[in-house]
Amino acid sequence: MWLNLRALEERLETRYVGRRVIYLTSTTSTQDVARAEAEADAPEGTAVISEEQTKGRGRFGRSWVSPSGANLYFTLIMRPEARRARALGMVAPLAVTEAVEQVTGLSPRIKWPNDVIVEGRKLAGVLIETEVQGQSLKYALVGPGVNVNFDIEDTSEIAGIATSLKRELGRETSREELLAMLLNRFEKLYESDITDVVQRWRLRLDTLGQRVRVTFRDQVQEGLAEDVDADGNLVLVQADGKRVLIEAGEVTIRG
Ligand code: BTN
Repeated sequence: MWLNLRALEERLETRYVGRRVIYLTSTTSTQDVARAEAEADAPEGTAVISEEQTKGRGRFGRSWVSPSGANLYFTLIMRPEARRARALGMVAPLAVTEAVEQVTGLSPRIKWPNDVIVEGRKLAGVLIETEVQGQSLKYALVGPGVNVNFDIEDTSEIAGIATSLKRELGRETSREELLAMLLNRFEKLYESDITDVVQRWRLRLDTLGQRVRVTFRDQVQEGLAEDVDADGNLVLVQADGKRVLIEAGEVTIRG
């Protein structure tokens, strides 16, 4: 069933996030549409939502499986001051986890920096793309993908590593309710004190205290994920006791 935009709007408590919606039944990627909109001066908080993506993309150039009518795929156009831009990478996964918790009672965790996981499997991911002009940030495209009513067992390529709310709960979840809650949480967190956001995000992190391997482009670093700093960087303690700060990368837990 298609998303009921009226039911979504009735549940919205935001001032600007999700107040302007571009709703599509199919597109390549909501990030592409949002980029064109952002270039055409779309207001902050504009949400591009699609029922299906034919070229949904994830971090590190991966694809994001985006079947029609079951999940949430959307991109928010944000125009943060530079100081706030980095916080978006924490605000978005936190908004997803808090909304899922509120609507379903599940307590998702976050795999650094912004994968949302349940029982070790990925429930949601966030892709953030930014456009810089000179020294300043022109806009950020914040794109969460959440597996909601997806019969994921039928998609063999990701069934082992990914999950959906339907798989976890054994029933369907209202996408309107979840999306509205997510947008409400997103705006609140985006406007709150960054120190608070880091603290709440840190409490959800599953990665801390684990021995991990972090891969970024052709670099691999291993060690104990000790903590995160005030900007959300991962503090890794290497075998020789040296501490390194990691800004970006993909974490795998070492057994
Ligand atoms: C990841 O974990 O690698 C990030 C996945 C992000 C997927 C979402 S779905 C909505 C938006 N449009 C895209 O093409 N990607 C993001």
